[in-house]
Amino acid sequence: MKQIFSTFPLVFFLFFFHCPPALSQSPAPAPTPPVRAPAPPTPAPVPPPPALVPTALVPVLPGPTNINAILGKAKQYTTFIRLLKSTQVDDQLNSQLDNSNQGLTIFAPTDSAFNNLKQGMLNSLTDQQKILLIQFHILPSFFSVPKLQTASNPLRTQVGNDEQFPLDITASGNQVNITTDMVNATVVSTVYTDKQLAVYEVDKVLLPHGLFASPTPAPAPLKPKKLPASKPPPSDDDTTPVKTSDGIHLSQQTLRSISSIVLVLAAFV
Ligand SMILES: *[C@@H]1O[C@H](CO)[C@@H](O)[C@H](O)[C@H]1NC(C)=O
Ligand SMILES: *[C@@H]1O[C@H](CO)[C@@H](O)[C@H](O)[C@H]1NC(C)=O
Repeated sequence: MKQIFSTFPLVFFLFFFHCPPALSQSPAPAPTPPVRAPAPPTPAPVPPPPALVPTALVPVLPGPTNINAILGKAKQYTTFIRLLKSTQVDDQLNSQLDNSNQGLTIFAPTDSAFNNLKQGMLNSLTDQQKILLIQFHILPSFFSVPKLQTASNPLRTQVGNDEQFPLDITASGNQVNITTDMVNATVVSTVYTDKQLAVYEVDKVLLPHGLFASPTPAPAPLKPKKLPASKPPPSDDDTTPVKTSDGIHLSQQTLRSISSIVLVLAAFV
């Protein structure tokens, strides 16, 4: 009798797969740096402004430059010409043009600019004051429009560098204004220009401070100027980095146990 007795040992397979609870704390993200304001965009290069008036209204005349002739051609400067002649500033200018290479620049007020003056104002001036008034409209060197636009103030006139006769230029785009403390005038157009002489139309008679400022009355007592309240120093809140909450990431606990028991019993009897 054949007895086969096989005893398969209890096979115990225990698969115990244990994932320990992963308490993973993901590292706090690095503090984000404070957001900086973007650098201001670099300004586009400003194109050079166009010339005030590209072509002169009066053509270059042959022969020696004659200021009266140039202004006479333009028609609307009869008062200015009359003053140039009566003061004999015209002779002075013509000989300056012939004898120096500095050139001249003339701001010529139109007849309507003279008509807008207070009545009797011109007649109240002495001959010497009329000379100063006319000389104040003339720069003893040649200024093209671009040179005018970039001139440093105050400009020197034929009167000289007198504090009482300041003449300042303000320019923006292709516009050129003249201010004298008494008057704000605009350069309207180019009447004439060559390499030596520039004549510009202005819409107002340039009244020099030194001739027309009313004699200063007893100065009013100066009111003490209020100093602006001192500002508190700017808070540095904006430099504190934005704090992000610590990210504690508790990974899902996985506990898995696998037990397998295989029991094979075989009994053969
Ligand atoms: C020039 O004067 C005119 C008229 O007063 C004004 O409108 C303009 O803004 C001034 N321009 C400049 C550059 O000062
Ligand atoms: C000239 O213009 C300036 C600036 O626009 C102004 O402050 C001043 O009062 C003006 N002067 C006259 C006399 O109009």
